[in-house]
Amino acid sequence: MYLTQEEQAMLDGAQGDGTAEAMRLLVRLGESMNAQKMVPISRAHTSAVHYPSDIWYTTKLIRGGAKCKIPPTINPLYDLDYFEKIGKPDPAGEKDLVNKARDIYCRLGVIPTYSCTPELDINVPRTGEFVAFAESSATPYVNAVCGARSNRESAKTALAAAITGRTPLYGYLLDENRRGTVLVKVDAPVRTGLDYNLAGYAIGEKMGAGVPVITGLPENPMPEELLNLGTQLATSSSVAMYHIPGVTPEAPDVETAFHGRPVPGTITVTRADLEGVKEKLSCARGPIEYVMVGCPHYTLGQVIRVAEQIKGRKVHPDVTLWILTSSRTRELAEKMGYLGAIEQAGGHVIAGTCFDFPCYYTLYSGKSGVTDSAKAAFYTPRMKMDFNLETRKRCIEIALNGGY
Ligand code: F3S
Repeated sequence: MYLTQEEQAMLDGAQGDGTAEAMRLLVRLGESMNAQKMVPISRAHTSAVHYPSDIWYTTKLIRGGAKCKIPPTINPLYDLDYFEKIGKPDPAGEKDLVNKARDIYCRLGVIPTYSCTPELDINVPRTGEFVAFAESSATPYVNAVCGARSNRESAKTALAAAITGRTPLYGYLLDENRRGTVLVKVDAPVRTGLDYNLAGYAIGEKMGAGVPVITGLPENPMPEELLNLGTQLATSSSVAMYHIPGVTPEAPDVETAFHGRPVPGTITVTRADLEGVKEKLSCARGPIEYVMVGCPHYTLGQVIRVAEQIKGRKVHPDVTLWILTSSRTRELAEKMGYLGAIEQAGGHVIAGTCFDFPCYYTLYSGKSGVTDSAKAAFYTPRMKMDFNLETRKRCIEIALNGGY
């Protein structure tokens, strides 16, 4: 792979061992993907990982003097103070590791957002930008809705890109890999946030890989609906780029989405497909003990809708209601009075954490809950957190009623 003088100097250690380590990772990645060269990035989003091997690696970067040239936003860790406040201090016994990780990532120069939806908040790419976004729910949105160009990065490759300011030119960064590979006809009414979840999951399951050009959805979908669609595409498949003609910036129409070439094939998604996904991912058998929404993190609009539904009512004592969001959204909800409405009803709005963390497994392993996220329902059963999938509105009603 061709490297500029500056990139070669980084690789040779001119900017310290930590930067050289990051560049080494990117060169190996680029070579394995047949990239011809690196390109500068203007934004990045990485994941915060607190397991011992990750701490070992990031400590090595710090000791080598690494610092992010492009300060990235970062995915959730735990809000241990919140767990302490509600009488469940450090449920998974990982406080030291979490605190260590927080310290390391800050020293590396990340922006401590601890949110999985920065592309809807403070790290919003514009069309055509080369970026490096980890987090499987973020990458499809960045590509298909913002029109920026990102590969499906891991925590480490996104961090390496942020440290060096470069990423190898391959995959979704290239025009030819953004061309539509299949026409998807959604032949089902898609109305709720859950419908977008189910449609995304069903499309991904039918495709496995490629770039879908999706038709048949309502006009002008909301950002949260597009986020749901892309999140579930990336959950059931390797797809991190799609076109919705008229929505995706580079696809004003179906023909442009296929770069003017003949449509290679068509698949249809029906209501039965959507119901099939719901049925398959719903595995709660016991009494409902928790309701978890906010995977990906809820936006302010979603938090407001929960507050409006719940205001003046009470969450049933046998159920715990968790609403996951970013600290910025929580803060705004507090200033606007919505946080108070949810808390008075007995709900928890927790910032900067993720369903897929041991703090939740520890509390809910072997127990049943409901969620409006197909991604949460897909990932958590391996740790015996069994979810049923329902719409947001139904999830909240279940929390209020204490079950179905
Ligand atoms: Fe966000 Fe965790 Fe879901 S990172 S998308 S809450 S699995």
